[in-house]
Amino acid sequence: MCGIVAYVGPKEAYPILVKGLKRLEYRGYDSAGIALYNEGINIYKKKGKVANLEEFIGDQSVVGQIGIGHTRWATHGKPDDTNAHPHYSGNGDLAIIHNGIIENYAPLKEALINEGHTFHTETDTEVLIHLIEELQKRDNLSIEEATRIALTKVIGAFAIVVMDKKDPGKLVAARKASPLVIGIGDNEFYIASDATPIVEHTNQVVYLKNEEIAVLTDKGEFSLKTIANIDQTPFVQELDLKIEELEKGGYDYFMLKEIHEQPKTIADGMRGRLSAEEGWIRLGGIHEYENKIINANRLIFVACGTSWHSGMIAEYLIEELARINVEVEYASEFRYRNPILSENDVVIAISQSGETADTLAALEMAKEKGALTYGVVNVVGSSIARITDAGSYIHAGPEIGVASTKAFTGQVTLLTMMALSLAHKKGMIPKSEFSRILAEFENIPAKIEQLLQSCDSQCQKIAEQIADANNALYLGRGINFPVALEGALKLKEISYIHAEGYPAAEMKHGPIALIDENMPVIVTATNMGSYEKIVSNVQEVKARKGKVIAIVFEGEQEIKKMADYTIEIPKTEDMFTPLLTVIPLQLLSYYIALIRGCNVDQPRNLAKSVTVE
Ligand code: G6P
Repeated sequence: MCGIVAYVGPKEAYPILVKGLKRLEYRGYDSAGIALYNEGINIYKKKGKVANLEEFIGDQSVVGQIGIGHTRWATHGKPDDTNAHPHYSGNGDLAIIHNGIIENYAPLKEALINEGHTFHTETDTEVLIHLIEELQKRDNLSIEEATRIALTKVIGAFAIVVMDKKDPGKLVAARKASPLVIGIGDNEFYIASDATPIVEHTNQVVYLKNEEIAVLTDKGEFSLKTIANIDQTPFVQELDLKIEELEKGGYDYFMLKEIHEQPKTIADGMRGRLSAEEGWIRLGGIHEYENKIINANRLIFVACGTSWHSGMIAEYLIEELARINVEVEYASEFRYRNPILSENDVVIAISQSGETADTLAALEMAKEKGALTYGVVNVVGSSIARITDAGSYIHAGPEIGVASTKAFTGQVTLLTMMALSLAHKKGMIPKSEFSRILAEFENIPAKIEQLLQSCDSQCQKIAEQIADANNALYLGRGINFPVALEGALKLKEISYIHAEGYPAAEMKHGPIALIDENMPVIVTATNMGSYEKIVSNVQEVKARKGKVIAIVFEGEQEIKKMADYTIEIPKTEDMFTPLLTVIPLQLLSYYIALIRGCNVDQPRNLAKSVTVE
């Protein structure tokens, strides 16, 4: 949510910043802006995407070897040129970029107005830079000291970079809750919200810790302290990120690329963690805590969005296979509802980005209450990965499309391994059966590959038939109910069609009233146990002239006779079906969004990494 990039060093900053902003655009694209130092601070900013900013700058000479850039996801103040970052201080000497929310901006603003400050924007960020200016002026402080003291006075979340025209050649960067990474080059530094703008320049990085403030200069100096003024030593790490992973690789959109990557990312997530031949599953992170998890009072999954759907699948799997109590909570609800938690509970956060503000806060609360915390995360080194007691990465690689695809299947793969491993440890699955199940699990990437080939053109054709719909209903039972939720979320996220996911039997309690010949109903009908019941649900839809798109196992005949369209998936164990049934749902959403002329990778109002609550 909001992307930050900054540079100080011997090179021209503008091309570095623009390229960096493009890499970060998935975090927000309401406006983009850049500030460069060239005998003064010059700010260029524009509503809309980075491309709009480039067009606006056109042939203007943009010179400077120190600069900051921002791509915005609006919180305080509408998305327009004025509210776009960077923001000047009142005297124009300072400029700031900010990701996060300053919650106490209103009283601070009032106090500053009383001191004679005038504000030109509706943002909380402008208040912060005026506060820094005020402290600097009042006590004749350096920019770093004024920034540090200002940050002790604000409540909320922030990642900021500040520059000062009176002290050029220096950037001050700080964070609390929102992420910030510093790349170290040759007498130069790159600062960004994540490593994607940095990787092509250097692989030496320092992840700023919570409440740290760094000063970086064009002389190659790097000093670090806490906001509470305690000196720190930067911990330099090597980045494990490949530039190709950040490119579209011949696909029109990142989302399509990421859908097609799934056979590989799922195999990567399994690699070294299971062997069908030898009959074992080993999740490194879980090993030490396995007994605690098995004997836990409850496992509580906390997550948001797509990751919450993965948590629901985990609930079905772990309760069914390992007979351990599971609850799944929206992180945003859990953190504020004073839940009953004890040392015997295990709180498991699922997060692609590892930075979602509500999920982070839920974990912090769980830690305070003494629960063991575990992270199921994609982004290596992210905040959730760092604050949890233990965890497992899903190894899906960078996911750039705002609508999550490969991270979802990566999470489901990891959580399925977790469920099987716990069940095995508890002795709930006989050895020969366990090996047979694992052998089938190992086949899943190949089956997805086969499915991607077989259903792509079919999904395109179905998309053409239903792209004009105003509403859509997704139905599933058991473990495929969360898949129905995920299918509906994918459709509304990127095509702006109103869609709802329902447990198939619940349709009778409301949504059935909406069904007519214009309503596409996408039904997942692969569950062995409840197949006949789903057949009845399909009949109910057809009786009301609904348009049925059914996802069934290959060779299935009964539903095929009733459905308007059927998409066949390769046969597999019930427990693995979400990894297959979700694939046509992803493709359908993708093609519908394309037909409707939507920007698939950057849907309106959404952001990939939601670092504000
Ligand atoms: C945003 C994204 C979703 C994602 C959700 C949770 O809404 O657009 O794709 O599922 O945040 O994010 P996380 O990074 O915690 O999985």
